[in-house]
Amino acid sequence: MPSPALAALLACPRCEAPLSQYPDSTYGCGGCGLKFPLLDGVPCLFAEPASTLAEWRQRWQFAVEKLANDASGLQLELQNPRLRPLTRERLTLLGEAFADQARRLADLLAPLALHHAQAGLATHLALQTRLPTDQGLTTYYPNIHRDWAWGAAENAKSLKLVSAALGAGGTPGNLVVLGSGAGRLAYDLHHQLRRAVTVALDFNPLLALVAARATDGTGVQLWEFPIAPRSIGEQAVLRTLVAPKPVADGFELVLADALRPPLQAGSVDVLVTPWVVDILPEDFRAFAARVNGLLRPGGRWISFGSLAFSQPEAASRYSLEEVLAIVMDSGFAEPAVREDQIPYMCSPASRHGRRELVVTIAATKDAPAPRPARHQAQPDWLVGGTQPVPLLPAFQLQAMTTRIYAFIMGLIDGRRSVTDMAKLLADQRLMTREEAEPAVRTFLTKMYEDSQRPPGF
Ligand SMILES: C[S@@+](CC[C@H](N)C(=O)[O-])C[C@H]1O[C@@H](n2cnc3c(N)ncnc32)[C@H](O)[C@@H]1O
Repeated sequence: MPSPALAALLACPRCEAPLSQYPDSTYGCGGCGLKFPLLDGVPCLFAEPASTLAEWRQRWQFAVEKLANDASGLQLELQNPRLRPLTRERLTLLGEAFADQARRLADLLAPLALHHAQAGLATHLALQTRLPTDQGLTTYYPNIHRDWAWGAAENAKSLKLVSAALGAGGTPGNLVVLGSGAGRLAYDLHHQLRRAVTVALDFNPLLALVAARATDGTGVQLWEFPIAPRSIGEQAVLRTLVAPKPVADGFELVLADALRPPLQAGSVDVLVTPWVVDILPEDFRAFAARVNGLLRPGGRWISFGSLAFSQPEAASRYSLEEVLAIVMDSGFAEPAVREDQIPYMCSPASRHGRRELVVTIAATKDAPAPRPARHQAQPDWLVGGTQPVPLLPAFQLQAMTTRIYAFIMGLIDGRRSVTDMAKLLADQRLMTREEAEPAVRTFLTKMYEDSQRPPGF
């Protein structure tokens, strides 16, 4: 359904011109002419929508094939006549769940296949809009079940902390959740605060499509595979993912990149970043300036979650003190901060669960910040392909280790022993004989263990 309140907020992620909405509910850019498809009704507002969806499609196909493959692996194991009856019961349940989950994911994400034009990959690369490789379709899969199946207590705690940070009544107007995942916090905030529009933005189509089905009341069933199942029956649990009641008008799911947000500068009243600032590949200094640019003067930023930065450079793995200093240097007044211990991902089907000391930071924009450069997903030498590939120290080390690995793997011929291989390494002067034997054993142990890993979703 067309949504004027959302349309008024949106800008083209490529050229930043305002977007128009057509009668069929799709969006298009009046500036550069880009058209944005809908995925099961959710607008895909990526700077290069066809290529980004093609990347997600590959990840989806990989996830479905892996599940089908894992199910076949279990079928093979089940042919062993010496299996104990309980083991047979467990493997049967898991195998059936993997196969059924493959079908369910294939159905749920079928709309991805509608947009299968591969064209535009070069533009996609040139625009620096590639998806980060560490973000698989199922990277945050447990969040889906926490949000819409068993997580009432955890969800209520998050809602309480975020809404308390906004203060009584909060700021009127719109609210945007960046990195909204499967959407529960955005849904709860929408019902509690009753904004004209609440935008739940994430770039993962599995999470967005589950959010769409859960919040419109249709619901969807998917399997949960707990980390530490409490019993055989909890190896795989079919969950119904649905909101307590269909979401009120004004709740808008958007598929987009938080680092190229399709939002007009200075248009957002409240921006919430739950469990997000530390997982983005962008340095927090640039991201804080980006948030400032999206907010209107006096707008609020609520950052919520742990601060577990894992950037490659130690300098960017900020402490709480540094985060607060950066927020204040980015055009925000001194923020209110609180720390609370909350349960996190404690599935009733699992023996595993975490406690997290979460930080809630509430900051008000009091000045504009210098605009950060466009986020670059990859360095120019990788995108263009004509510049020299830099001889980074890490590449040199990888080249060396890869040569040694390839050499040892090439020595496996079904006849040589660990001692024979160590002797050959020493003959090649890659190592001394004393070093070589334990090194070959450690390496082959790892390769063997990798080959024995259980299948898993
Ligand atoms: C740790 S999860 C938190 C999800 C949700 N806020 C929650 O608390 O359950 C991080 C979320 O950020 C999303 N995300 C990561 N990078 C993003 C990006 N560049 N643009 C949009 N979403 C992103 C992921 O897909 C994921 O849903």
